[in-house]
Amino acid sequence: MAQDLPIDPSLPRAARLHQLLPALEGLLTGEPSGIANLANVAAALWSATGWHWVGFYLVDQSADNLVLGPFQGPVACTRLHRGKGVCAAAWETNTTQVVPDVHAFPGHVACSSASLSEVVLPICASNGVVVAVFDIDSAVADDFSQEEVEGLEALRAMVERAWPTWSWS
Ligand code: SME
Repeated sequence: MAQDLPIDPSLPRAARLHQLLPALEGLLTGEPSGIANLANVAAALWSATGWHWVGFYLVDQSADNLVLGPFQGPVACTRLHRGKGVCAAAWETNTTQVVPDVHAFPGHVACSSASLSEVVLPICASNGVVVAVFDIDSAVADDFSQEEVEGLEALRAMVERAWPTWSWS
């Protein structure tokens, strides 16, 4: 299949994000590798939007922390711990965190000093337990519109629907 997703670069970013959804649905269908699929979701969103960092942290149950998963952007923190930062908040509360100013978020973990705003969405298994978080960072303050957050929620829902069919070895 063609590896270029049909995204129109002349559209506003929110529209590009929504254009990505059906294209990614097609890309994920039939591929059982969770790592490959998360890598392609991160790459597609990062290249379609230009956001600074796009990626996943996976819940490591045995270590009781979050471990870095597939991503695009600068090198990031390998492990994130309970009670500290935006990703941990999404994990522990199972709610999407929209942070217009990371410096105003108590305990924010600055993996990259260039990140000024971020959105982190929890990803749940079919039993409702959080298995990963989806982290999108911007180098611009207050950079996520309501429409874009809705697009990211739709992307999260797509990943959650497919998750039970994926394998990790
Ligand atoms: N800022 C996140 C850490 C992950 S990096 O931004 C990639 C946090 O506060 O959890």
